[in-house]
Amino acid sequence: MKKIVIDGDVIETDENISILELARKNNISIPSLCFLEECNGVTKCAVCIVEISYEGKTKLSTSCTTMAEDGMVVTTNSEKVQEMVKKRISTLLDKHEFKCGQCTRRENCEFLKLVIKTKARASKPFLVQDKTPYMDTRSVSIQIDRTKCLECGRCIDACKKKTGTCTLQFERVDGKRIVTQVEGKKFEDTNCLLCGQCVAACPVAALTEKTELDKVKEAIADPNKHVVVAMAPAVRASLGELFNMGYGEDVTGKAYTALRELGFDKVFDINFGADMTIMEEATELIHRIQEAGPFPMFTSCCPGWIRQVENYYPQYLKNLSTAKSPQQIFGVATKTYYPAIANIDPKDVYTVTIMPCTAKKYEANLSYNETNGLREIDAVLTTRELAKMIKDAKIAFAKLEDSEADPAMGMYSGAGVIFGATGGVMEAALRTAKDFVENKDLKDIDYTEVRGFKGVKEATVKIGDNEYNVAVINGAKNLSEFIESGKINEKQYHFIEVMACPGGCINGGGQPHVSSEIRTKNDYKKLRASVLYNQDSSRSVAKRKSHQNPAIIKMYNDYVGKPGEGNAHELFHHIYEK
Ligand code: SF4
Ligand code: SF4
Ligand code: SF4
Ligand code: SF4
Ligand code: FES
Repeated sequence: MKKIVIDGDVIETDENISILELARKNNISIPSLCFLEECNGVTKCAVCIVEISYEGKTKLSTSCTTMAEDGMVVTTNSEKVQEMVKKRISTLLDKHEFKCGQCTRRENCEFLKLVIKTKARASKPFLVQDKTPYMDTRSVSIQIDRTKCLECGRCIDACKKKTGTCTLQFERVDGKRIVTQVEGKKFEDTNCLLCGQCVAACPVAALTEKTELDKVKEAIADPNKHVVVAMAPAVRASLGELFNMGYGEDVTGKAYTALRELGFDKVFDINFGADMTIMEEATELIHRIQEAGPFPMFTSCCPGWIRQVENYYPQYLKNLSTAKSPQQIFGVATKTYYPAIANIDPKDVYTVTIMPCTAKKYEANLSYNETNGLREIDAVLTTRELAKMIKDAKIAFAKLEDSEADPAMGMYSGAGVIFGATGGVMEAALRTAKDFVENKDLKDIDYTEVRGFKGVKEATVKIGDNEYNVAVINGAKNLSEFIESGKINEKQYHFIEVMACPGGCINGGGQPHVSSEIRTKNDYKKLRASVLYNQDSSRSVAKRKSHQNPAIIKMYNDYVGKPGEGNAHELFHHIYEK
């Protein structure tokens, strides 16, 4: 057991751990900038400097790169340390447009906290008359504002370690070091997955989603538009974080109330769309079982993963489930089924989704995601954008009463809600596929082997008389390793779920930022996922299966017909081709 003294506290550990992480785990705060759990190693910001006495020598060292050794005595806040950090922050301020008033990150900006803590000032303020040359707004998903960039490298490392695409890099342009995409191309024109893991890693407002807030506000103000809104499963598990409600707080009911107060005409739920996707995807799996393939069938609800297939593994395009994603299938229903039952002209319906995801903005924009000449989804807001909209409207979110979604397309099953965590789509599909094939209302429906945050999860599942191999790949980087190591060919896989973001949508690129410090101390992914699994397990068995959602049964009976056939096949599927 090693003994390390930090600021007078004796800490014992047998872990191979850095001083920074050890201190944080013991509630001793050390400032940092470039360090991010799972992705450190791009640049040295020197903000995490501490004074270390060890083996008779005392020196200043970066605490994120110095491993804790027995006998070390560490001081995190000596005058020398404070002076060095303040100087470093001042240097960064000289290149940073420090206008926090209107900045989207002002409430959880890691840099602003450092400026306040150190009382650092710029030697001469960085004032920008025309921001155009610093902005990259070409993508529909993600934008770069280089007046805010601190060159910390977290985005570059997050992209490399979490996606393997290495889309972002530092480059020298006109003598300045900037963060840019490969060959300076638009994100969409690179191999980028548009997953937004780089945005989630950025400590400031340099990388953000491309906002669609103005579009949505305009639509709400237009008396001729009937504005429908629906949030994805993962949003309810994290939105409360942006209102100081802590991690793992279920805010489903408050979110519905807030959406009504914001003026949306109908408040539905993407979980209904997830149940629709399962109706179609489980039916497709059964067809493939009957027709002996093509196997493995891959899930297709994550647009980051779809871009990964298109850009890297086009040989698997035919293996993708043709069922549209929950967002798009829901969008189709809002432009067909809903206008029919509500007696509205489909042209007047304007559909907004609230997503934990930046890639969903891209998905909504794809030309094939149109039905009868209408865009299925008109605008996509991230969880962060919704929080901003609520704050702009001065709604006291934490004090709101709970309410319910509108029933026609707002009712959902436990299967629909677990879509937001890795393994959830697989589990939801298996519940329905087994019931369909065995013609039973099965009670044993918890597929715990596919839950949790392991990179690759596997199970063998009996459907009818036969056994099928399934796998869940958690994160884009794990997927490429799974394919490139040849593991995918080691046995016949029948069904594989892939989500690009580590942990699934609960950790998507549109979710609230989690600071470097909190990531070290707090298992925020697990806490967010627990909201979804708690909602699922607190229901009766009948309400945990997509095909038993009464609103789904009504839609199929009254409007669509049988899943996977006729109307359903025409409306709810897309065939992926090279
Ligand atoms: Fe202020 Fe942070 Fe925004 Fe910079 S990025 S303007 S420090 S809130
Ligand atoms: Fe990399 Fe994803 Fe960011 Fe694209 S969106 S640059 S793939 S992290
Ligand atoms: Fe760091 Fe953000 Fe700049 Fe990337 S864009 S280097 S994460 S400040
Ligand atoms: Fe978007 Fe979810 Fe896929 Fe991440 S895992 S890219 S949040 S759909
Ligand atoms: Fe340690 Fe940057 S060098 S946080």
